[in-house]
Amino acid sequence: MTQLTIAMGKGRTADRAMKLFEQVGIRFSDYHDKSRKLVIYDDDNKVKLIFVKAVDVPTYVENGAADIGIVGKDTIMEDPVDVYELMDLGIGKCIVAVAGFPEKEFTNGAPLTVASKYPTIAKDYFNGQGIRVETIKLNGSIELAPLIGLADVIVDIVETGTTLKENGLVVLEKIADVSARVIVNKASYATKTSQIQQFIGDLKAALE
Ligand code: PRP
Repeated sequence: MTQLTIAMGKGRTADRAMKLFEQVGIRFSDYHDKSRKLVIYDDDNKVKLIFVKAVDVPTYVENGAADIGIVGKDTIMEDPVDVYELMDLGIGKCIVAVAGFPEKEFTNGAPLTVASKYPTIAKDYFNGQGIRVETIKLNGSIELAPLIGLADVIVDIVETGTTLKENGLVVLEKIADVSARVIVNKASYATKTSQIQQFIGDLKAALE
């Protein structure tokens, strides 16, 4: 019987997580990066992996549709849910930053317009500095917003910095370091304690 259900998004982080799973002896022979399968099982049939949209991972875990989720800290910061965050996988490392045209200054005059996938992080950050902001929620191509005058600055994740550079933008202020985290459903942790602890322990050992 499948013991654990893990939810994660596809993409760069998934590829790195798969390598980590292999290191701890969990192999998904069915997995390849072009596959459209949404549910796969490991070769020993102990783990069911479900591929969901990355921002939805916490929802699946909070509601118990998955025992465990692999998700970026940025997603958890933007929309906190009632789960245990048990481990930093140290993969998918990037920063959440304010970015814009070089030497853009923030003043306390008119509210700053901020475009972001992370309006809550943006608002909390600027309000914490006493700067009034108006946020515009976007779902992608955030770097476009300052270029076409939709926003003064953006709050977004920066990994290699290539997207900013190719669009003439720079990091103005770093908000936080982020990376992929392991989150766990609270009821699952109570009922599947040994399996979950073993999984986390194996991952920690592999990372050392
Ligand atoms: C993310 C992020 C930046 C980019 C940063 O976008 O929103 O646009 O990656 O990466 P870099 O620093 O390595 O250039 P994503 O690739 O998820 O695409 P999106 O614009 O569709 O959200």
